[in-house]
Amino acid sequence: MEKIHSLTGMMDLIAKKTSKDEIADKVFYTEEVLRKVFENYSISEIRTPALENSSLFKRSVGDTSDIVNKELFSFFDKNNKSITLRPEGTASVIRSIIEKKIDNESHKLWYMGPMWRYERPQKGRYRQFTQAGVEMLGYPQGLAELEIISMVCSINKELGLENPILKINHLGDNESKKNYCQALEDFLRPLSSKLSQNDLEKLDKNPLRILDTKNEETQKILCKGPKINEYIPKESLDILDLIKNTFSEDCIIEVDHNLVRGLDYYTGFVFEAISSDLGAQDAYLGGGRYDNLCHHLGGKSLPAIGMAIGIERLASLVKTEENIKTLVSLIIISSNIQPKAYKIAHKLRSINNSINIDVQLSEASLKSKLRRANKDNATYALIIGDEELKSETIIVKSLLDEDSEQIVMNFKDIENFIKEIK
Ligand code: HAM
Repeated sequence: MEKIHSLTGMMDLIAKKTSKDEIADKVFYTEEVLRKVFENYSISEIRTPALENSSLFKRSVGDTSDIVNKELFSFFDKNNKSITLRPEGTASVIRSIIEKKIDNESHKLWYMGPMWRYERPQKGRYRQFTQAGVEMLGYPQGLAELEIISMVCSINKELGLENPILKINHLGDNESKKNYCQALEDFLRPLSSKLSQNDLEKLDKNPLRILDTKNEETQKILCKGPKINEYIPKESLDILDLIKNTFSEDCIIEVDHNLVRGLDYYTGFVFEAISSDLGAQDAYLGGGRYDNLCHHLGGKSLPAIGMAIGIERLASLVKTEENIKTLVSLIIISSNIQPKAYKIAHKLRSINNSINIDVQLSEASLKSKLRRANKDNATYALIIGDEELKSETIIVKSLLDEDSEQIVMNFKDIENFIKEIK
């Protein structure tokens, strides 16, 4: 029979208790920490469906973006309707608040879940990946920029990241953007024979996107071209200074006037956090202001700023060793006594919830249960058999030191012992 494999660029995550797949533990830990940070900033959770009408992304992320042009997971449903697996979360959040008619008030929302992009898989780039996103809706340029960057700094700190760099830029206002795009076009048109097909398409549809070209020839040409900072208004440059002055003690902040981001909806301040420890796909989060999206999708005019974090990339930067809870393995060696032994396990769990207690459920021998406890990196094994139950005792074995003696403790002492474990 033909073997069934997972799809290209899509991975299974299994926590360490059953496999040595370390990234799974890091991903789950990272998600837990992010939820706490979001709560800390008083942000509410929103969940939207994974599937949306294809038109939502074409109208928001934009048909000049790679995401819409090349990377959508789209198909026709049984009604011949074009459906897409969401490639990002912002468009769905805006669709949802317009549909619920709450687009006339402010909201601070977060989400977490799988996204899909039909990309060429490589390290840090998957076809199914997880994003945690934050959208602050109804907040004009100013304090919201500070709040979102404060959150980026808190995430870096809570997860103990070692080499994070925050790149920031400002795309100006509508008028300066128009003037700059015109200047860029005037400069590049006469040189169009030197541009790649890809960059020529950008020049036709959205000239700003040329700034993040990967083509070295174009990059050289752009060095002599008009600079966005010479076109954007003073208030925009002030925002960049404000961010730098407020947070440069927490994080290395670099102004990068070529940072334009790959989605069409951005209108002002934009940013990306990168780490050199990640390799080629070095951005672990990105975001910016998108003041026109709500109106553009048929809702009210609602200023907004947001960001999304690539969980797999962020998690790969996290060191979890010190975060793993102490594990105690409870080994029961007679099937007759299980109900009583479970009562004991139940009691011990309630005494100290900062440790994990694993009751080994199989009928295997003591030897193989001890082997299992070692494999799971348990710190102690507690062994209960008929004898122990009769004498109201438990055998305690330290698994950290192979030569250590087993200790027999009565129930009262074991409760105190469990209470003291950190
Ligand atoms: P984005 O920059 O397209 O922005 O994605 C955000 C993050 O998702 C990236 O920085 C990266 O870490 C991760 N990511 C993207 N594609 C992949 C992939 N194929 N494999 C693994 N990780 C990936 C957005 O999605 C915007 N919605 C962010 C936003 C929210 N802007 C305003 N609000």
